[in-house]
Parts: sequence; C-alpha cells; structure tokens
Amino acid sequence: MRKFESMDGQMLIGGVKASEIVKKYGSPVYVTDEDAVRSNYRAVFNAFDRCMPTRINYACKANTNLAILRILQQEGSSIDAVSIGEVEACLRAGFTPDRILYTGVNVSTPELRAVASLNVPINIDSLSELRRLAMIDPHLPISFRVNPEVGAGHHEKVVTGARSTKFGIPRDRIVEAYAEAVQLGFRPMGLHCHIGAGVQVVEPFVKATEALVSIVQSLERDLGLHLDFVDIGGGIGIPYHPEDHAMDLDLLARSITSLIKEGTSVKRIVLEPGRYIIADTTVLLTTVVDIKETPDRTFAGVDAGFNTLVRPAFYGSFHHVAVANKFDLPGEATYDVVGPICESGDHLAKERRLPRLGEGDIICVYDAGAYGFSMASNYNMRPLPREVLVHKGTANLIREGQSMEDLLRDQRIPSRLMI
Ligand SMILES: Cc1ncc(COP(=O)(O)O)c(C=O)c1O
Repeated sequence: MRKFESMDGQMLIGGVKASEIVKKYGSPVYVTDEDAVRSNYRAVFNAFDRCMPTRINYACKANTNLAILRILQQEGSSIDAVSIGEVEACLRAGFTPDRILYTGVNVSTPELRAVASLNVPINIDSLSELRRLAMIDPHLPISFRVNPEVGAGHHEKVVTGARSTKFGIPRDRIVEAYAEAVQLGFRPMGLHCHIGAGVQVVEPFVKATEALVSIVQSLERDLGLHLDFVDIGGGIGIPYHPEDHAMDLDLLARSITSLIKEGTSVKRIVLEPGRYIIADTTVLLTTVVDIKETPDRTFAGVDAGFNTLVRPAFYGSFHHVAVANKFDLPGEATYDVVGPICESGDHLAKERRLPRLGEGDIICVYDAGAYGFSMASNYNMRPLPREVLVHKGTANLIREGQSMEDLLRDQRIPSRLMI
C-alpha cells in the first residue's frame, strides 16, 4: 500500500489534490501516478537483472491504458498480451512486435492468423494451436506454456497453474510438443508457465521454476534443444491490506534465477508482472452520494460500483479506503462503502472506520490500478469513467469517459419492431 502525502487535510496524488482532480474531471475517476509506474517497473526489473539478464513482459491485461503502456514502453518493458486487442493496443503505444509475446488460451484460428500476420511471437497453449499455427506460419518465433502442476493465488478463480485448470500443455506431453514443433519447422525460443495471481510468498514460484528447469533439462538432453529464455509468468502479489507484507523481490529473484543458472544453459529469465507494476500506482476516486443508517449498519453510498471496480464483489478482495478530503481526520464511525449497482454484492469496502461522512465527500480506493478499469463494465447501463495521469503536480486526461450515446450507438432495433 503506497503512502500518500496531504496538504491542508487534502490527499495529494502525484502532487495534485484529489479534490481538485474530482472537481476538474468528475467522479468516479481513476488516477494514476506516472512516477509510481516507472519506479515499480525499475524495482522489479533491477531485482532480477542483478541476478541474470532479464526481460519484463508487462501483463497488460492488468491495465491497457495507452498512456500507461507508453510509459512502460519508454522504460524498456516488453509485453505479455492475451488477445489481438491487447496486441493492437501495444503496437499503438509504440511496442515493436518482437517486444510482445502473445499468450492466448483457446485461441481461434482467425485470431491466430491475425497475431501471426503482425509478426508477434506466440506462446503456444495447446497442441491444436501448434498444428493450426504450423499451417499459417511455421517460421514464427514460438514458445510453449506448460501446465506446471503448481498453482497458487489470492482466490481460486485466479489459480492457473494447477493440474486441473484449462491452461498450458500438460507436463507429461510438453517434451513431445517441442519435438513436434521442431518437426513442423519451428525453432522454439522459450518455455513458460504462470501459476496464478496475487501470490505473496516465494515458495510456489520456486516449485514452478523447479518444474521448468526439469523440463528444460529434458529438452537439452533428449532433443538437444537449447532455449533462449525461461518465463516464470506473473502473479507477484502486493500488500492490499495495511498488515500484508510486500513480496521480498530480491529473495524471489535470487531463488528463481539460481535454479535456472545452475540447472540449465538458458541465459535469460522472462517474467510477466501485471499487478506488481500497476496496482498501487492508481487510485479510484468516488464521491459519497447518499448516507443510509439501517438497524445493522451505516452505508456510505458512492457513485462507483462493481461496474467500476469489480474486485471486491467478484473475488471478495480487500482494498484500503480513505477519505481524500478529510485525509488527516481519525476514524469516527464504521461504514460499508457501497455502489449504485442493483445487487446486494455491490460493495467496495465493508466495516471501515472512517471520519464521519457526508454527501460530497470523496472516497479514495487504493491499489485500483490492476484489474480495475480493465475489468470494468457497462452493467446497469453505466458508462465507464475517465482516467487521469498525474505527474509532479500536473494532471492529464488519459481516457475520456463514456457518454450515453457511446452505450447506445451499437445497438439496433429491427425495423419490424418499430411499427
Ligand atoms: C499468462 C499470464 N501472465 C501474467 C499474468 C499477470 O498476473 P499478475 O497481474 O498477477 O502479475 C496473468 C494474469 O492472469 C497471466 O494469465
């Protein structure tokens, strides 16, 4: 959880008062601090690059805002993309195709063709995908995603590396997959796995790396195949709760890279952090519109719901909240912070001690940069909010909010229904 400064009792984000951002850009609004994006990228890159040559493929599913992608492009990041849309966004932000690795799951042939036509390397998830790609372009750089049979994560929905999930080529078929790829004319460059998301401890990453190392050893021994990289995926957790501990990046980097260096001839590690880079760079500012006291609890009704930030409702995730315009005041009352969506699961925070609230107060939801805007929806016909970038005291709009016309434009009523 990032610490924020205040001035005159007002929370500052990147040197700009949160209340001024809401006044100028409206509410709700996502606000990202550019310096925080850069420093998170550097922290993770440096921790690993000190141990062995490193490539960071930012998992852009966490946040695909073009300005944020551009900042990471300038920092030297590469990209983990999971759809043709993400690939197109990253190309638009200035990434060259060789700095993108496409890792799809259940990839359709038209999408495979579209990615291949852009010369973007493909991380193959199944034998079906391999064979279909061979008919499209057997010279495209490829790697394979293996199911490492090691899963971890903050919620069962985000555990991807367990044996029972839909992801990756089963461990006992992965060497055959490489052999078939070579026969088909490919030169596989790497081996990848992704165990899950929001992992707060080193151990599952070590276990997954041991699985990767043992596969690389088989490839070297049995097929004489030497890979350029081992990709351990993303999933590094962040401390959402004030009592959570941050991941020890140096320990993580040392533990994983020593296994690769000692066990294989591979010279480069790739990792795909999304959340670690972007989560704590961004807050969601939302305005109190209604206070309701009930026999059991007091609800602070705000203008952002699970349409704006779905994590609390979908995963039961904790996000710290503060009152941006009463930043220095102590907690005086206990509130559930709830949104305008017509479902009782629509909450952002439960049972939080906050300064006494009134309509017009601004609630700041922390750590909203990853899987915040990117998972937002138009549920209840509510438009997506604006996004703003702050940098050393200045603020820029980086995404316009949607209008009602945006929501209605693509729908059609057949003329026969209009008679
Ligand atoms: C293949 C892959 N890589 C990387 C990530 C990024 O995970 P995180 O944002 O938790 O680092 C994901 C998340 O789902 C993923 O599926």
